[in-house]
Amino acid sequence: KNIAILASGSGSNAEKIINHFQGSSKARVTLIASNKKTAYVLERAKKYGVPTHTFNKAELESGQLTELLINLNIDFVVLAGFLLQIPQGLIKAFPNRMVNIHPALLPKYGGRGMYGDNVHKAVKAAEEKETGITIHLVNEHYDEGKIIFQTAVKIDKTDSPDQIAEKVHVLEHKYYPKIIESLI
Ligand code: GRF
Repeated sequence: KNIAILASGSGSNAEKIINHFQGSSKARVTLIASNKKTAYVLERAKKYGVPTHTFNKAELESGQLTELLINLNIDFVVLAGFLLQIPQGLIKAFPNRMVNIHPALLPKYGGRGMYGDNVHKAVKAAEEKETGITIHLVNEHYDEGKIIFQTAVKIDKTDSPDQIAEKVHVLEHKYYPKIIESLI
């Protein structure tokens, strides 16, 4: 099976996923696509010889990206720190075959504006005792697709938002590749 990863940023999750499937006969990452030309995820992809593609918002919304994914025989789409809203056409082209990771325990700290550091700052401000990750299918409603997997980690009173983010990243790296494999 061919996996495409959409990412807007650093891509540490993308790298773990590429790594995970390098030794697999079932699936591999055959495309890294980004809406940001300068995203570090593209460097990581090059390091592993994974083909990359960049696109802009208009190309996403007009269906050009969907067409490309179909033409490349992509079977499964992984969002890993992808910051644009996925258009309906793309969701419909990959029913139950598109997954996202959210750096908190949904339904808490989800929805618009809740991405990246904002999530961890909000968790800190609310003095939560734990946070975690949510891996979910992508459907028409932002951050509301079927939840596949969640796991939590304790927050210490003294943890800064950055330290919370670090703890969450550890969970993401540990579980996202495995959960993707189980879905495929
Ligand atoms: C992750 O925390 C993910 O949950 C969030 O964006 C971050 C991406 O990190 N949606 P990276 O680019 O994989 O390092």
